[in-house]
Amino acid sequence: MVSFLIAYATWSGNTEEVAELIEAVLLNSDLDVTRYRIGTGPIPDVNEFDALIIGSFTWDKGATPDEVKDFAAEVGYKPPNVYVFGTGDTQFGGDELFCNAAVKLARFYESKYAPLKIEQSPRGTQEIDVINWTEGVIKQWAH
Ligand SMILES: Cc1cc2nc3c(=O)[nH]c(=O)nc-3n(C[C@H](O)[C@H](O)[C@H](O)COP(=O)(O)O)c2cc1C
Repeated sequence: MVSFLIAYATWSGNTEEVAELIEAVLLNSDLDVTRYRIGTGPIPDVNEFDALIIGSFTWDKGATPDEVKDFAAEVGYKPPNVYVFGTGDTQFGGDELFCNAAVKLARFYESKYAPLKIEQSPRGTQEIDVINWTEGVIKQWAH
């Protein structure tokens, strides 16, 4: 069974909501999922999973939060299969800086799949975007 680690940072809960939705879609397809909130206890062994799904909010003019940078440093290598999602808010710098942490993480991990960008909470009209994105991730593993 394909195993996924969803590692995400959240401050006010939006990124966690996205992580929970992604988890639900993966579980619905009978996939193996571990959800880990960055900064809470020991980091799971990334090496034990087939894929890493990493999520982050964006901070301070397009910045990646320190805890996410620390996570990447502690993991210490770039896993081969990484998918990135993020939440942000266009009022902090328009389209240019929207979800910039997710964009930067996708570049850093050389993700082959476009990062998911969600404006604030995914509940409501953006829920379908999370579902479609996750189903796209699942398709990458359908052999
Ligand atoms: C001080 C501050 C700066 C922010 N800067 C950005 C930004 O540059 N780009 C962006 O897309 N969102 C920015 N945001 C919005 C957050 O990324 C957004 O609210 C996010 O959903 C919060 O995630 P969380 O609820 O998981 O903590 C900023 C928010 C705050 C409070």
